[in-house]
This record gives sequence, structure tokens and C-alpha cells, in this order.
Amino acid sequence: MKKDFLMITDFSADEIHDLFKLAAELKEKTKKGIEHHLLKGKTLAMLFQKPSTRTRVSFEVGMYQLGGHALYLSPAEVGLGKRELTADVARVLSRFNDGIMARVFGHDIVEGLAKYASVPVINGLSDLTHPCQILGDMLTVQEHKGRMTDLKIAYVGDGNNVVNSWINIAARVPFTLSLGCPKGYEPDAGLLANARKQGLSSITVTPDPVDAVKNADVIYTDVWASMGQEEEAEARKKIFKPFQINKSLLSHAKKDCIVLHCLPAHRGDEITDEVMDGPHSVVFDEAENRLHIQKAILVKLLAR
Ligand code: CP
Ligand code: NVA
Repeated sequence: MKKDFLMITDFSADEIHDLFKLAAELKEKTKKGIEHHLLKGKTLAMLFQKPSTRTRVSFEVGMYQLGGHALYLSPAEVGLGKRELTADVARVLSRFNDGIMARVFGHDIVEGLAKYASVPVINGLSDLTHPCQILGDMLTVQEHKGRMTDLKIAYVGDGNNVVNSWINIAARVPFTLSLGCPKGYEPDAGLLANARKQGLSSITVTPDPVDAVKNADVIYTDVWASMGQEEEAEARKKIFKPFQINKSLLSHAKKDCIVLHCLPAHRGDEITDEVMDGPHSVVFDEAENRLHIQKAILVKLLAR
């Protein structure tokens, strides 16, 4: 039976910890130049409805390092749901490939691919969630803080796909999740209710950014207007201005706090140059970890 990865909650807590362990092993092998062709001869089709740097490059490089190959399929080529039904694209790609990774607008599109594909489907970002990102981020937190639990992780900004995935991981790994979002820009209510129902992590949502970051071990932010919301960008700049991660906001967090951003960053908007290039920032370690965690995900789903 094939397994898909559309949301962090598709994995159990044990499976998530196994992924972190495998990612650390694969990272060490990569650094030491030890061959690890665990997906020799396998191929991954990568479907993109939106632009990407990290996701595309890390999956492509990851498949190569695992002894396989990845194919980049641009929106112009496939025309998901336009040139061809999503269901038929899923069926066809399953005949050629061992897995499909997709970056889409509506979450229903990645669900549709998973429903009709006979090979595993991985969500490389939808409007609802960005699960690979947050697994890589948690690996980064573990590396820099030496633990995942007993931490206050504060997300400040738009209640988007990235924060929805932080909420999902809080349903599997215990920690304190503090969300600072302007009124009307809160994260998905259903995912929040589900995570709270698990009773594992404390999750709070406040419209006060200072309150959100108070004594935080980790501060996280993302763009104020996500891909597909470009026309709202100017209006959002005014609303989100108090949510900028700058030196003043950082002064309310713990002295040894780390700062993460999934990137790409809009420097001067959600984060200042001073913070992004400063001593608390681990954003480029975080970007690198997309490679290592995704290799672990690929091995888990495709090495069958
Ligand atoms: N963080 C992230 O997913 O980056 P890309 O949009 O460049 O893939
Ligand atoms: N929230 C952002 C994340 C980019 C990696 C977006 O969806 O555009």
C-alpha cells in the first residue's frame, strides 16, 4: 500500500522521529562523501504550479544523491486541470515514476493527485500546508537547541501554509507554540482545533507580537503575502508592519534565541537585514536542511 505525505499529521510521532534520525544519518554521509544510493534507478516527477528555488533544487539534488533522478515539470508543460485532468496526470505519471512531488495552489489538487496516483505523492507546498519545510525546520531547531521539546517557538506574521504546518507538528511533538498574527489573518481554525484536541502542545494565538515572542527560544517568520496573494501585498504591508522581526522585537525573546525564516525573505518587510544577517539567524542552515529531511522522506516513501 503506497503512502502519501500531504500533511505532517500523515505521520505518527514515531515515524517523525525516525525521519529526523534518518535525515541526520544521511546528512552525515553527505558531508563525509559516503555514497548512499538508497533509491538507485528510481525517479521522481516534480510538478510545479508556483515558482520555487529551495524545494525544486533540494528534491532534485536529493534524488541524485540517492542514486535516482528527478524531473522538473513546469506549469506551462503540464497545465494541471487545464490541459489535462489532475486525475489523468496522476495516473500517467504513476506509470513512469516511483513518486510524485507537487507544489500547488489549492490543497484539493495535491489530494486529487494522491487519490489517483498509484505511487506516493509528496506535498511540496499547497495554499494550506508546507509540511516538508516544517520537518526541515524542526531538524534545524534540534541541531541548534539540542532538543525539540521544552521550547517556546514563536511564529510572527501571516497565518498561512507555513504556520498551519507548525500547528500540525505541534500535534505530534510537544512544545509551546506561540502565534502572533494580526486579527483576520489567523491560521486555519480546523487544524488549530485538531492540534489542541491532541493535548500535546500548548498553542496560543495573539494579535500582540511582543506578547508572542516574550521569552521565546525560537522566532519564526514568513512573507506577509504568499504566492498567489501578490495583489494584496501593498495593503498587507501596512497591516503587518508591527509584526516585523527587528532588533526591538527580538529584545523580548531569550538572549540565546534563534531566528528562522523559510525563505524567500522580503528583507525590510517581515525581517530586517540586521536580524537576517545577525548572530541569531540560522536561516541558511535551515535552507540546507530541506535537502537532508527530504532525502529521508523520499527514502521512507519510495524505497519499497
Ligand atoms: N522555502 C521554500 O519552499 O522555498 P522555495 O519556495 O524557493 O521552494
Ligand atoms: N507562505 C509562503 C511560503 C514560501 C515558501 C508562500 O506560500 O508563498
